[in-house]
Parts: sequence; C-alpha cells; structure tokens
Amino acid sequence: MSAKKLKTLVLSASDIEEIVRSVGIDEIMDELIEKMTIAFKTYNKDKTKIPVRSGFNYEQPQKGLIEWMPLFDKEKNQVIVKMVGYHPDNPNDFQLPTIVSTISCYDTKTGHLKGLTDGVFLTALRTGAASAMATKVMSHPESSTLGLIGCGAQSITQLHAISRVFKLKKVLYYDNDIETRESFSSRVAMLNLDIELVFTNIKEIVKDSDIITTATSINIGEGPLFDQIESKSWLHINAVGSDFPGKTELPLSFLKNSFVCPDFLAQAVVEGECQQLDASDIGPEFFEYIQNKEKYSEAVRQSSVFDSTGLPLEDQVVMEMFLAYAEKMKLGQEIGIEQVPMDAKSPYDFMYMQDAIVIKQTVPLEDLNKKVL
Ligand SMILES: NC(=O)c1ccc[n+]([C@@H]2O[C@H](COP(=O)([O-])OP(=O)(O)OC[C@H]3O[C@@H](n4cnc5c(N)ncnc54)[C@H](O)[C@@H]3O)[C@@H](O)[C@H]2O)c1
Repeated sequence: MSAKKLKTLVLSASDIEEIVRSVGIDEIMDELIEKMTIAFKTYNKDKTKIPVRSGFNYEQPQKGLIEWMPLFDKEKNQVIVKMVGYHPDNPNDFQLPTIVSTISCYDTKTGHLKGLTDGVFLTALRTGAASAMATKVMSHPESSTLGLIGCGAQSITQLHAISRVFKLKKVLYYDNDIETRESFSSRVAMLNLDIELVFTNIKEIVKDSDIITTATSINIGEGPLFDQIESKSWLHINAVGSDFPGKTELPLSFLKNSFVCPDFLAQAVVEGECQQLDASDIGPEFFEYIQNKEKYSEAVRQSSVFDSTGLPLEDQVVMEMFLAYAEKMKLGQEIGIEQVPMDAKSPYDFMYMQDAIVIKQTVPLEDLNKKVL
C-alpha cells in the first residue's frame, strides 16, 4: 500500500508571464472578455454561491486590508477563494503593487487544494475585462473618448480592455500623484494604441468623455472625486475604486440621475457606490441586466454606472482560463502540499515508515509503537 499523493498545480508569476507572452496580450484580453461575458450571461445563483467577502482592515504596520473572496460552484464541485491585500502605500513605500493577491481552487469532493495562482496580474486583467464587458453593453455604441481618473495599475488594464471593444480616439487622464501621471504614457506604450493621450483635470474629463473609469485609491470619507459637472447625457462610468465602507468616488447627484448597475448588489450596498443610494435608485445586478437586456434598453440612452466592487465569478473565469493554458502548455509545478498518510487515520504514519526502514533490525517491534507515540 502506498500513500496517495495529492498534487496542487502551482502557477507562478513566471508561468503566467510565459502564457501571456506566447498567446499575446490582446488575444488574452479578448478571450477573457468573451469568457467573462458568457459567465455573466449564464450565471445562476442557485448553482454558484457567492457570499459577500470578509476580511481584516488595519492601520498598523501599514494602512491596509486583507480580504477573502469565496465562490462555490456546485456543478464543478469546486470552491475558489481569492485572498487579496489592499495597501495603497505599497507603490511608494515598497515599490509593490497596491493590490497583492493569490487565487486558490479547492475540490469539494475531498477538500483538496487543486490549484494556486497569482492574483495580482489576474485581478488587474479581470477587472479590466469586467469593465469592458459592462461598457460594451451599457455605453453609447459610438463612444470614442475615454476618461481615466486614477492612473495606477488598474487604469492600464481598464484602457487596454475598453480599447478592445471600442474604437477609442482619445484618452483624457488624471491622477493626483505627479510621478504617476508623468509615467502614464510610458506605461501604456507597449499596448501600441493609436490613441491620443491627453493629461487634463477631472472637470474636463467629466465634461468631454463618453466613458470614464474611476480607479483611485481615494481615502475613506474623501470622496467624491468631483461634484456635479455637466457631462454628455450618455456618459457611462465604471466605478472601480469604491470598494470599502465610506470609500466612494462618484457624486450622489450623478448616481441618482443614472442607471446604476452593481456587479454584486449585496457587496455594493456596503462597499460600492451603491452604499450612497436607496434601493429604489439601484438598477439590476449586472448579470440580470445582461440576461434581460431588452427590459433595460433605456440604459444606453442615459448616463450609466457599472458599480464594480469585484465579483469572485470574475476570478473563477480568469483562473480557469490560465489553468487551462498551463495544462495545454505544460506549465506550472505540481507540488504535494497536503500531507497524506498511508493510513488516513494515522497522521504519524510517515514517522513509522521512516523509522521502520532505519531501525528495522535494531528496535524490537514491540518498542516501535512506544517510539512513534
Ligand atoms: N472593482 C474591482 O474589482 C477592483 C479590483 C482591483 C482594484 N480595485 C480598486 O481600484 C483602485 C485602484 O487600484 P490600483 O491597483 O490601480 O491602485 P494604484 O495604487 O496602482 O493606483 C491608484 C491611483 O489613484 C491615485 N489617486 C488616489 N487618490 C486620487 C484622487 N483623489 N484623484 C486622482 N487620483 C487619485 C493614486 O495616486 C494612484 O496612482 C483601488 O481602490 C482598488 O481597491 C477595484
């Protein structure tokens, strides 16, 4: 009898990089937007259980929080949990991203950890793809000017993803950190976008954009980013940065006059822009909207908001996509993390086995149990 080996497929940062380099960053984003759209179109709350995330927030040793975002897919017999840290001082203090994360996948037949991947790049990718998915169906089809308020990590994938579903001509951008705005054009250069990039102020962005993504690390209680400003009647905003109680980016007046679609209602009323609204001001959850688009056809004719707090369904889609590529390309490392004894009810088995080989001739069998215990 030999001990069963439980193997976990671990995808490291370099595996993820190799997948993206081989497949192509545009191809990856296009595929993800498509897969994400299908996932929302077929999302069924009876089959996929997603509780509101929970976590710890603290002021010491750094201002930040660590949260867990779980999902239970009953049909696939799997639980996915993303662990995500938000530490807005990371870039300045440690040259690390604000969002540091890993995603894990468990087998609900046994509890075994099947896979573990990066969640930093995957979060940025899936948050961009989710905005592109929502923007595609909620924005004016001829939208060509994108505004970006907050030009950190998420803004890059927001621009990339939205540029894959709209023919953008101009990007108006603003960040309140000088270094960040000065480095913005070089950070997007590798996307080879034929788009005019214009640094400007928030007022001009709100006035002239067809689509805006707000992705700032604004402090709790410091919102909104702007007061009521005249904007195009069809302006669509992806509100990405509002994801904590008291942390909001958009003015109440804009929200009240817009069609507001949360990615995850129960979470958005606690952490998203929806925390500012009464139930009667909030539209359907995004999955409900995309599954019944005709019912909400007025949305594309008025200003709209995708209240994006982050739904673990997005993490499932992106993780599965990368695990599938890893399997196809034979990438990743299979590691036995969980200790499995030969006898399932004998956790000290491994000591017995090791000792048995070494001391077989020297220790009388009757003493062996004493030694193990
Ligand atoms: N909805 C989601 O699913 C999701 C996913 C990932 C991140 N987020 C959120 O998106 C936000 C941005 O994340 P990131 O990874 O890009 O962080 P980041 O630190 O890389 O970038 C945030 C940028 O916002 C800027 N900023 C802060 N306050 C501002 C203000 N008042 N006006 C203009 N700019 C301001 C900062 O200078 C910084 O450059 C965070 O709040 C994060 O929690 C949401």
